[in-house]
Amino acid sequence: MKTDVNRPLLQDGLGRKISYLRLSVTDRCDFRCTYCMAEKMDFLPRADILSLEECLLVAQTFISLGINKIRLTGGEPLVRKNFSWLAARIRELDGLRELAMTTNGSQLVRYAVPLAQAGVDRINISLDSLNPGIFKRITRTGDLDQVRAGVDAAIAAFGGHRIKLNTVMLRNINHEELPAMVEFAVAQKININFIEQMPLGLSGHDYARSFYSSQEALAQLKQHYELVASVESSGGPARYWRIPGHDTRIGFISPHSQNFCADCNRMRVTARGELFPCLGDEGMVDLLPAVRAGDVDQLRQLIIQAVADKPAGHEFDLTQSKPRIIRFMSRTGG
Ligand code: 5AD
Ligand code: SF4
Repeated sequence: MKTDVNRPLLQDGLGRKISYLRLSVTDRCDFRCTYCMAEKMDFLPRADILSLEECLLVAQTFISLGINKIRLTGGEPLVRKNFSWLAARIRELDGLRELAMTTNGSQLVRYAVPLAQAGVDRINISLDSLNPGIFKRITRTGDLDQVRAGVDAAIAAFGGHRIKLNTVMLRNINHEELPAMVEFAVAQKININFIEQMPLGLSGHDYARSFYSSQEALAQLKQHYELVASVESSGGPARYWRIPGHDTRIGFISPHSQNFCADCNRMRVTARGELFPCLGDEGMVDLLPAVRAGDVDQLRQLIIQAVADKPAGHEFDLTQSKPRIIRFMSRTGG
């Protein structure tokens, strides 16, 4: 693959190099996970959402500014019609090193092969429980069997080393199951990331009560497995552990207990063309008018300026009764 070493690199006011874009292609989802959405959601009108061609233009413009990794997210990206077409077009762009996506897995039986053919490099599958009742309680509308079949299909199409599970840790909901989740990942030869819940939504869900820290999870898992800290980094916020003799890598994403903002390399664009330089900050730059006008120069200027102004970081405060950031993850992009 050709990569132009002279391409400008986006760098923010604190010297952080921005190389990673998370692009949400829809705010819709077939699940209603309690920590992410309210039971009844108002979704954006279709006319407010970037067309697939506009998503491609956004991706292309970021890549022209030095972004080399893109993750397509939602909502649930696979509820978007012709998603595989978009993935294939983005993958063809010169300068892109990796195209990843995040999915709830509900439609992977149907789409795993087309996505592999489109050139998607890695898939993260959200899976919080292997118990059908608990899975239903968390996702409200999800069907565990369908997602497990989706995981199988993804492993068959991509190979286990390209598949990772994302598990949000929830006290008294799935926390007792975490060793079983690791066992599942080990048996399937796939990776797993445990994520501390972030207080991002409004869904009436009690974030403080169900918060379960990486530290607690690690202590719990160490009673079942020999875990060896790993120095490897995927360029993101996860800290990794390995079990000697197994392929599975276990990651912890700990927005509360470890502040990783100093290494942040990413920007987020919503399905509505809003650029969020920081997940924990209200600051937003509206790219939609420039995208709709097809004005690439203006788009580049807006992105460069937003990167320059990227906030230093965020702090989530679980002791406050209200979340500081009132924004659904399905809108910002998970
Ligand atoms: N805290 C942590 N992770 C979240 N996700 C959605 N909402 C939250 C939250 N409040 C995760 C999902 C999925 C990814 C898209 O984002 O579990 O793995
Ligand atoms: Fe859908 Fe993912 Fe949000 Fe669950 S966490 S409702 S699967 S977008």
